[in-house]
Amino acid sequence: MMVPICFALATTLTVLMTSNRGLHAQMITDAERLFSNLMLDYNKMFRPVLNQSKPVVVYTGLELISIQDFNEVAEKISFTGIFSFAWYDERLFWDPKDYGGIESLNIDVNMIWTPQLMLANSVKKIDRISQDWHTVSVTDLGLCFYIIGNVFTTSCTVDVTFYPWDKQTCRFEFMPANFYDSSKINLFPYEGDAWTDYPENGA
Ligand SMILES: *[C@@H]1O[C@H](CO)[C@@H](O)[C@H](O)[C@H]1NC(C)=O
Repeated sequence: MMVPICFALATTLTVLMTSNRGLHAQMITDAERLFSNLMLDYNKMFRPVLNQSKPVVVYTGLELISIQDFNEVAEKISFTGIFSFAWYDERLFWDPKDYGGIESLNIDVNMIWTPQLMLANSVKKIDRISQDWHTVSVTDLGLCFYIIGNVFTTSCTVDVTFYPWDKQTCRFEFMPANFYDSSKINLFPYEGDAWTDYPENGA
């Protein structure tokens, strides 16, 4: 399944992440105990839905930081951007009261299930966009935030109909890096209305 994402997708996710729900005297022992308990019987091979017949819903967003290069002839664009992903892991939840008030925990990306996505219209080598040193922020409700900043280069078909007053739309095609289809992973833009005026493929 491929999902086009427009530049307009906003930053709600980042805002959510930096909001602080209060200060607590959190001890490292609380965090370690919480982490151990969460990882007990956790198997990252399985998608984070208790009912394995259901798809995982993964919300995606993009914050565009800067455009490095836009080559209209070669129809490719390089940009610095932050992709954000959010999903629920139904196994990762806890009561903050039991753990010194801890309401979120950063967990190494390779310790829990994450959507292994590729940017399918990347101009460079197609590779997973996650890397081993990344972390996922997990809240006490099991909400996982994963943010990946990088310089990405993708193809971008140029529409010169209204040149020079043109407005370009570049699309990013995400694709799971393994055998999942939409019955296993559902990708949605973080703000659904951001791309409603996007023309259908081939229009
Ligand atoms: C699991 O999900 C499937 C598909 O939605 C549903 O038909 C089935 O009843 C669910 N199983 C349980 C045990 O909830």
